[in-house]
Amino acid sequence: MTQRLKNKVALITGTGGGQGRAAVLRFAAEGALIVGCDVKADGNRETVELVKAAGGSIVTMEPVDLGDPEQAKKWVEEAVAVHGRVDILYNNASAARFAPIESFPIEDWQFTIRNELDLVFYVTRFAWEHLVKQGGVIINTASVAGMKAGAVGGTAHGATKGAVIALTMQWAMEGAPHGIRVNTISPGVVESPGTAPLLADPAFRSMLLARNLISRAGVPEDISGVAAFLASDDAAYITGANIVVDGGRIAW
Ligand SMILES: NC(=O)c1ccc[n+]([C@@H]2O[C@H](COP(=O)([O-])OP(=O)(O)OC[C@H]3O[C@@H](n4cnc5c(N)ncnc54)[C@H](O)[C@@H]3O)[C@@H](O)[C@H]2O)c1
Repeated sequence: MTQRLKNKVALITGTGGGQGRAAVLRFAAEGALIVGCDVKADGNRETVELVKAAGGSIVTMEPVDLGDPEQAKKWVEEAVAVHGRVDILYNNASAARFAPIESFPIEDWQFTIRNELDLVFYVTRFAWEHLVKQGGVIINTASVAGMKAGAVGGTAHGATKGAVIALTMQWAMEGAPHGIRVNTISPGVVESPGTAPLLADPAFRSMLLARNLISRAGVPEDISGVAAFLASDDAAYITGANIVVDGGRIAW
């Protein structure tokens, strides 16, 4: 594989499974020096073993709860202590809760804002001063749920992911003078530990995939390949963009 990310220091959040783990494996195969973290320790340690077995470079911290600004700051500082710089920040981690608006618990609203939006701001806020030193790349993970209404229950998730798309455009503008490119990936339905319980129900799975033009659920590698492209110089002229990776779900 061409090593487009050779010796680039890549901070990736939520590396304990799913898209975060796939990104770690892909970025490491492309030569990046990975710094990961996750609030769940076990999955993260498995990711480390997989990367090391593949000959990649990774250090991780766990458990790190990025919804706490102090822990987010400490993680970035520890990454800089190890490698001395930040070239790529991939904001992948998130956790959401779902309920119809009439019964949406206030606590679940606050949980989702904290774990889907606040953490993106905190990590980026603390990594920014390092990215401006030599320029770099930020990849934010939104969702088609931030662009279009989805299944009933998406009140908080749609709000946070719409906000992430807005943050990308703002930070692309503020980052351009420093040579920082910022883009969003908006996945559709992707198989992951986070979606496994939903996709296990055949009726719900069919409903979620009914509008897909490519008639399967996505896999984490569908996303990590796009992320590696965005992190590389092959995407040198792309900033402020929202790349939809959804099997054609919202095209019609
Ligand atoms: N899977 C899908 O269908 C889908 C669709 C659209 C968008 N997305 C987005 O893609 C990203 C990855 O999703 P996934 O499906 O791999 O999810 P996942 O739940 O399998 O993985 C997310 C990881 O983030 C970690 N995490 C959550 N909150 C954290 C916190 N506060 N601090 C540190 N780590 C935390 C989790 O422990 C988990 O390991 C998320 O931003 C998600 O919203 C997923």
